[in-house]
Formats: sequence, structure tokens, C-alpha cells
Amino acid sequence: ACAGRTGAALQPDPDGVAELDLRQHASLQAVGGSLRVTIGDDPVLVVHARDEAGAQDGGYVALSSKCTHMGCKVDYDAPSHEIRCPCHGSKFGEDGEVHNGPA
Ligand code: FES
Repeated sequence: ACAGRTGAALQPDPDGVAELDLRQHASLQAVGGSLRVTIGDDPVLVVHARDEAGAQDGGYVALSSKCTHMGCKVDYDAPSHEIRCPCHGSKFGEDGEVHNGPA
């Protein structure tokens, strides 16, 4: 997957809502897929997540791709189903929960 590429640039409506047509992005079809988008100026990572048991389709999540530690751009690691920050090693679950500091 091309984690560094932005797949779509979306503009939020006046309520701050933006829509992404998931069917148009091949990289999102399978569980473990991800796509970088921007919504206005905000970088967002869209992930096709696992369910809580870890085996099945858990639907889609959209998370800010700015690390909560110091704002580096995080990446999705499909094999571990984690979101990782290249700067200081923070790791997050697909739900955005911190698995590993310093975030
Ligand atoms: Fe992400 Fe420091 S900015 S771990």
C-alpha cells in the first residue's frame, strides 16, 4: 500500500462534515486497508478495521493522522492493525487508543 499518498482531498460542508465514497478507493476494500485523506487542512487516516475479536470486518474508522504527542504524521501498519508514529514510537489501536507512549 502507498501509505504516503493522499487518496482524496475533501472539503467539509458548513457543518464540518465531509463524505468519502468508500467504494471508489481500492485500498479500502479489504480489512487492513487504509487511505490518507485531507478534510480541509486536516490530515485524516481512514482505516478498514477489524472487529473487537480481531478476526472479522469491523467497519471503517477515520482518525486524525496527527500524532497526539507532537503532531508527526502517523502511519497505519496493516499486519499489526496498529497506527504508528515514526517520530518517537507511539502506537495506537484502530480506535485511536494509545497502546504505547509517549503520546
Ligand atoms: Fe508521535 Fe512523538 S510525535 S510519538
